[in-house]
Amino acid sequence: MSQSPEPYVPALKFRRLTALYDPLLRWTMRETTFKEQLVRQAAIAPGQRVLDLGSGTGTLVLLVKRSCPEAEVVGLDGDEAVLDLAREKAARSRVKVAFDHGLSFDLPYADASFDRVLSSLLFHHLTRDQKERTLREALRVLRPEGEIHVADWGPAPNPLLRAAFLLVQLLDGFDTTQDNVAGRLPKLFLAAGFVDVVRTAHVTTPFGVLELLRGRNPAS
Ligand SMILES: C[S@@+](CC[C@H](N)C(=O)[O-])C[C@H]1O[C@@H](n2cnc3c(N)ncnc32)[C@H](O)[C@@H]1O
Repeated sequence: MSQSPEPYVPALKFRRLTALYDPLLRWTMRETTFKEQLVRQAAIAPGQRVLDLGSGTGTLVLLVKRSCPEAEVVGLDGDEAVLDLAREKAARSRVKVAFDHGLSFDLPYADASFDRVLSSLLFHHLTRDQKERTLREALRVLRPEGEIHVADWGPAPNPLLRAAFLLVQLLDGFDTTQDNVAGRLPKLFLAAGFVDVVRTAHVTTPFGVLELLRGRNPAS
């Protein structure tokens, strides 16, 4: 249940907490570990176009650009305030990337215009319907053979980590997080039309387990 009047949930649910997002993630969530792993598995090549859905403060966008400076990298987020933080961060790092305002389930991009769609910690902010629409939009903007790479909450392997995940559910909502913790994201990828859907890795954090997923847009 979202308490936000917006069609998206801000990074830490409440706008006044957004400034705390980067330190919180860095110190509690093994942020560098799982985001660098996601970038590695995406194997981005020079000249490719990469879209980060729900780019937040821009950390993943900057990691992608550092890993492959010749790639064109775009971050998209529904929250103008977090986009301002991301743009400031990119300017401080002197990195040339773009940040667009928009919603993951109604993307402002042409069909087949990206080689990679990445996303970190977005899907647990989306209702089932928004997840399905977001995946269909990701498929639409990906070129044939293009890939999606996602890091988000997944099933907990034991009761302790399942209990810890209740903290995330209390903050972010039970309805949006239920598909994640029930391990349904891979099925949703397949239902949207992705192939070769694989859970590539998991990363344990104090609040639960993050899973890394990938899928491919079949050749048309
Ligand atoms: C938990 S934060 C994750 C930010 C970043 N990807 C990271 O890993 O640090 C989720 C972000 O998704 C954005 N968001 C939520 N729903 C969205 C939607 N439907 N479309 C675009 N952005 C959305 C929020 O504004 C927020 O910045």
